[in-house]
Amino acid sequence: MTALVSVQNLSKSFPGVRALDGVRFDLMPGEVHALMGENGAGKSTLMKILAGVYRKDSGEVLLDGKPVEIESPAHAQSLAIGIIHQELHLMGHLTAAQNIFLGREPRKAAGLLLDEAQLNRDAQALFDRLNLQLSPTTTIGDLTVARQQMVEIAKALSHKSRVLIMDEPTAALNNAEIEELFRIIRQLKSEGVGIVYISHKMDEIQRIADRITVMRDGAYIATVPSATPMSEVIAMMVGRKLDHVQKTIPDTSANEVLLDVRGVNRGRAIRDVSFTVRRGEILGFAGLMGAGRTEVARAVFGADPIDSGEVRVRGQVVRLTSPTDAVEAGIGYLSEDRKHFGLATGMDVESNITLPSLKRWLKWGMFLNRPAIQAVSQQMVEKLRIKTPSLTQTAKLLSGGNQQKVVIAKWLVQDCEVLIFDEPTRGIDVGAKSEIYKLLNDLAAQGRAIIVISSELPEVLLLSHRIVVMCEGRITGEVRGDEATQESLMALATRRD
Ligand SMILES: Nc1ncnc2c1ncn2[C@@H]1O[C@H](COP(=O)(O)OP(=O)(O)OP(=O)(O)O)[C@@H](O)[C@H]1O
Ligand SMILES: [Mg+2]
Repeated sequence: MTALVSVQNLSKSFPGVRALDGVRFDLMPGEVHALMGENGAGKSTLMKILAGVYRKDSGEVLLDGKPVEIESPAHAQSLAIGIIHQELHLMGHLTAAQNIFLGREPRKAAGLLLDEAQLNRDAQALFDRLNLQLSPTTTIGDLTVARQQMVEIAKALSHKSRVLIMDEPTAALNNAEIEELFRIIRQLKSEGVGIVYISHKMDEIQRIADRITVMRDGAYIATVPSATPMSEVIAMMVGRKLDHVQKTIPDTSANEVLLDVRGVNRGRAIRDVSFTVRRGEILGFAGLMGAGRTEVARAVFGADPIDSGEVRVRGQVVRLTSPTDAVEAGIGYLSEDRKHFGLATGMDVESNITLPSLKRWLKWGMFLNRPAIQAVSQQMVEKLRIKTPSLTQTAKLLSGGNQQKVVIAKWLVQDCEVLIFDEPTRGIDVGAKSEIYKLLNDLAAQGRAIIVISSELPEVLLLSHRIVVMCEGRITGEVRGDEATQESLMALATRRD
């Protein structure tokens, strides 16, 4: 059987970065081929070349065995290559159907008028093919990320794609949504579509992929069946031994209470929530998506107003009317939505890391201590293994996972005693994950109070000294970190009373 796509000896450089170095890859009809590698390994770059976003420097791309030069995204589409980008690209104010057929809407009356009815019928036909309950006339901005993704898939199919590239499609999906995506992937597979699946989630890859290609530092490492033990795949990805986080729960019962949240309410999202975190403690927040964990974090951070209740820091009631107040009071919040909050994509790495705490490096109130700023930034880049050619690289040119690390670094240099991490390892590779776990442990050991919100139960279990579980805006239980199990947390996360 000829491969749908095959890539040979492909190389691509950006200023200061060799993103791809002699990479090979092939995709068979009806195959789900996973692409794995650490943040910055070159996965998205390779796929963007196939999708016509970037031009290759050298090497060959074959479609059905014949060499092609993919010149633009439109050209890739005409070659039946579709891509769902790591960041979605839909127009929020248009309907689902309008997004799918943007720029090639069906027309009537000799091409003068848009044929809105036909447009919606065509979109409906695509949704039917995917077995998707979705109205073509829904405005995109009103859909969940998961549904928006389905629209992107429908859009790719409308171009009769035989190659469909999915770059971290499940990063923002809940379990039910992931199941729906997998159902669609299987359906497409049975129709002979070849799918490239990029993800950092091992369990997903074992379930859905046929083969795995591993990349490291822009180079091709190996292609293996998905039944290969994950420990072997990880070893190939990271090329070094990972530190294991040793879980020991320190006795913090006599430590000062840094954060004390009492009886906080906010509409139906937060209902009578109370909890405390002491110096040195890591408090986990578990719950299903929509349980209210992020809402609590946002309220404590002053990002959303509360209806009633109070927040105390070191025993003092604080009025939190904005995040600035919260930071003043010593509370930091790493948002789960890093694209909209947290990263200034147009600024460089160093500014992103140090700008919020610039005051610290003012000499005599006027001169900035540049060497100190650089040293701190450099230290963070090394500590978090942020892959960047220099401190002056523009943040948006970093790979997705490395952008996240920059935001984490920013919060680490600010002197907040209470740090709330919302989904800190989303989109982060295995190697960096274990480094972030170690870092959170260090921060707690240094006497800060840490809150970790995570949808990944193994992560909550691994990190937390104590775990609070939420369901429908309420706290439904609290468990010691060494007594909790995935089952006990799930039971609490679904307890509606
Ligand atoms: N437009 C660009 N300009 C400069 N450098 C770039 C550009 N796009 C990517 N890079 C660099 O190329 C390397 C590979 O990035 P790429 O986005 O392909 O990584 P990735 O494997 O997709 O990582 P992640 O898992 O974090 O998404 C990185 O070092 C990145 O900083
Ligand atoms: Mg990527």
